Amino acid sequence: MTAFEQLTVDLAERSYDIRIGPGLLDGVGAALVPLMQGRRAFVVTDDSVAPLYLPRLRASLAAAGIEAMVEVMPAGEGSKDFAHLEALLDAMLAARAERGTMVVALGGGVIGDLTGFAAAVLLRGVDFVQIPTTLLAQVDSSVGGKTGINTRQGKNLVGAFHQPRLVLADTAVLDTLPRRQVLAGYAEVVKYGVIDDEPFFSWLERHGPAVVAGDEAARRQAVAVSCRAKARIVAADEREGGVRALLNLGHTFGHALEAETGFSDEMLHGEAVALGMVMALDLSARLGLAPRADAERLVRHLDTVGLPTRLAGHRAWDAGRLLHHMAGDKKVKDGKVTFVLARGIGQSFLTREVPAEAVAAMLGDFIATTR
Ligand code: NAD
Ligand code: GLY
Repeated sequence: MTAFEQLTVDLAERSYDIRIGPGLLDGVGAALVPLMQGRRAFVVTDDSVAPLYLPRLRASLAAAGIEAMVEVMPAGEGSKDFAHLEALLDAMLAARAERGTMVVALGGGVIGDLTGFAAAVLLRGVDFVQIPTTLLAQVDSSVGGKTGINTRQGKNLVGAFHQPRLVLADTAVLDTLPRRQVLAGYAEVVKYGVIDDEPFFSWLERHGPAVVAGDEAARRQAVAVSCRAKARIVAADEREGGVRALLNLGHTFGHALEAETGFSDEMLHGEAVALGMVMALDLSARLGLAPRADAERLVRHLDTVGLPTRLAGHRAWDAGRLLHHMAGDKKVKDGKVTFVLARGIGQSFLTREVPAEAVAAMLGDFIATTR
């Protein structure tokens, strides 16, 4: 067995590799040299990740003869805004970044999205690589080229499609990730099984607890299967004209829950996705599209690993407000929400024909049975 898994996101001249395995961080410099026009890199990370992993990244770049400039942003979603984008671009320009400078994102989805967007607009676009350090970033946000920031109108409303030149997912860095963040990322792993891969879902039922506990082989397998699924979907539909929207399974409901909780630590994105997937399967069963047993199977698995499957009872939830948030989702077209529903685990599909009363009734029942 090689030391790492390698797969390719097949996008013609914008194709790139994803490497997955423990210890890749120490080989970043050597991996970058063949991709670089010069020997200068601009590294962006956050102040939680920097003390943990920046010294090793610096050492690896130096060993490959790459001069590294570094900008450390505050950890957290708050950095994905215009003010931090401006500060970052200023720092890049002040450091005399050139077209040949390689931008390196070392961190979770926040750093990946912000840095990728900065790379997309700096000097009208420079190359960047993703070194994702959260499970969510390794299985989702670092792959596929969606970059961007939040505005006062909502999340991810300003951004660009800008594909990285390489994704290096060092699975060993997940050892320091708090368990709640691991679980939030794991929700996105489960999503790939529910979308179109029942055998993977079944594998997760057997090995999910080991993935979450940090078993290296299980973790690497879960990240590799997830990235392969995402790579396949992105290669088929880079700009979300169709099938890529399946990746939003659980996100329409999840987005409403996140909006209602103010995009705060009260509910992490992955926790909202877990609950959103439960709602999507429940709604599918209500509409007679999916067997009730499949909705229950999803709940059982998420319960087993410790992800939320019911709304928390300390808050006064309101179905009307949740529906209002859903109507504000950026995926709404001609006033209609696009839903990802399922005919069962592994059989998801897109539809815009969902009776509003069924959605309201489903939300009402979730609100009536909080935990
Ligand atoms: P995050 O980047 O905020 O990271 C979560 C926390 O973990 C942060 O405090 C971070 O400092 C810390 N951290 C990161 N790596 C660590 C490590 N190895 N050890 C210890 N701590 C570590 O959050 P996230 O969940 O990775 O990403 C969420 C963001 O991703 C959101 O902004 C979301 O919109 C975006 N996203 C983008 C896409 C996409 O396709 N571009 C897809 C999904 C989510
Ligand atoms: N995270 C959804 C997408 O990349 O399309």
